Amino acid sequence: VNGKVQIPVVVNVLYRTTAENISLAQIQSQIDVLNKDFNAANSDFTSVPSLFSGVKANVGISFVLDQVIRKSTTKTSWGTTDAMKKTTSGGLAPTSPTTKLNLWVCTIGGGILGYAQFPGGSSSTDGVAIDSKYIGTTGTTTYPYNLGRTATHEVGHWMNLRHIWGDATCGSDLVSDTPTHNTANYGVPAYPHYSTCTGTPVEMTMNYMDYTDDRGMYMFSNGQKSRMSALFVSGGSRASFGI
Ligand code: ARG
Ligand code: ZN
Ligand code: CA
Repeated sequence: VNGKVQIPVVVNVLYRTTAENISLAQIQSQIDVLNKDFNAANSDFTSVPSLFSGVKANVGISFVLDQVIRKSTTKTSWGTTDAMKKTTSGGLAPTSPTTKLNLWVCTIGGGILGYAQFPGGSSSTDGVAIDSKYIGTTGTTTYPYNLGRTATHEVGHWMNLRHIWGDATCGSDLVSDTPTHNTANYGVPAYPHYSTCTGTPVEMTMNYMDYTDDRGMYMFSNGQKSRMSALFVSGGSRASFGI
């Protein structure tokens, strides 16, 4: 649409309890958060410190709810081995995964809020799983992960973004305009939070690809936008989603 990426989203709800069978309003609240966070329309975007105002990004990718598929199950938790994506294990196979983003909403367990498949993997398991207690901004969503940022973070992974600390001490996220972080940050760190890594010392703890509480994360960077946008152009590994 107008040269912009608009991603249809299929939401696969796997429920045992009535609470797990989340409402359409809760699902739509998550789509609304994705649209805000990926278009610099989140109300907390203005809280980005001036140190980072030159690199804070309007990613310019939008999302539209395509369909909701619901399935009653007897499983109490689904884990992180893609069981929810397979009919052979009682789950739901993705719908049109080369042209639609599939979300699975279920109880994952083990303290995991969500997980994503990076680009380049099998289309049969492509998409993002989000625990039903950490999706959207209403209904069963649970503080401090009640602002829909788990899906923002996981869709970041689905669009090829790495954790900002590079999953190592002073590791690399392969993005040059994000500072090198010592490690993951949790809670809502006071600003400024300093790293001892080589490079610019003030960490970008408010980046969606850190591990802070939902209210502590409110920006992508321009370098992250470049990595994500590259997937959707001709030759990119998600080019089938169109531009
Ligand atoms: N994969 C991460 C986890 O399960 C997601 C972290 C999301 N962070 C957040 N504030 N919502 O721990
Ligand atoms: Zn992550
Ligand atoms: Ca970096």
